[in-house]
Amino acid sequence: MNRRKRRTVIAGNWKMNMTPVEATAMIKELRPMIKGRRACDVVLCVPAIDIPAAVAAAKGSRIKIGAENVHFEEKGAFTGEISAKMLLSCGVEYVIIGHSERRQYFGETDATVNKRVLAALSAGLKVILCVGEVLEQRDLGITNEILAMQTKIALQGVSAEQLKNVIIAYEPVWAIGTGRVATPEQADEGNGVVRKTVEALYGHDAAEALTVQYGGSMNEKNAADLLAKYNVDGGLIGGASLVASKFAAIVAAAEK
Ligand code: PGA
Repeated sequence: MNRRKRRTVIAGNWKMNMTPVEATAMIKELRPMIKGRRACDVVLCVPAIDIPAAVAAAKGSRIKIGAENVHFEEKGAFTGEISAKMLLSCGVEYVIIGHSERRQYFGETDATVNKRVLAALSAGLKVILCVGEVLEQRDLGITNEILAMQTKIALQGVSAEQLKNVIIAYEPVWAIGTGRVATPEQADEGNGVVRKTVEALYGHDAAEALTVQYGGSMNEKNAADLLAKYNVDGGLIGGASLVASKFAAIVAAAEK
């Protein structure tokens, strides 16, 4: 990570875990553990139903609350969906878009990812955009092409000014929830490909200023080595973000 040039952001992705009561308890436990530290931003992306409880529990702390998805239309007949405006009205600042589980199980495509990114940014949300190859693509040697393609399509129509509100998370799909973490070198390389792709679109300075996270089985034990890499500006953390002490340890690793 290169803190002189860009913000380090440690973000949790709770996925489909935690009730509002559990969310409140976890955040109350976490707050004193990360108090005083300031070298990175801390975000918890939580299930929609937990948002009001999480926002209330995080109030007055450095923890920002994010959502795990957003719909691209402003309103209307889209049963079960939530708009950017609704999220903002509840105190949400960030939203994860294009997570591999949404691509894998819920029909998310590069085109719908792009629509969500544009809707979220124009409404004023900060976006954590996820890209990453599946194992077959890595084995075929097309990881770099996949990352470039996903990044380019997702950012179509995003202005240079809007890019300042985008974080990209490189998450190799084979490393998510598997305990099989990428090596620091693989993480650095994947993040570097994302940065190079952004450089080709927006120029050197914009690419150097972009926060690129690594995600996939990051935990309190491997975080320091991953975060030591030049292109790794933080993490998107699933499993280990559910336990306050583990998540706090990752924040501490990012502040060394
Ligand atoms: P994991 O999830 O840390 O549990 O592997 C990461 C993610 O899906 O963002």
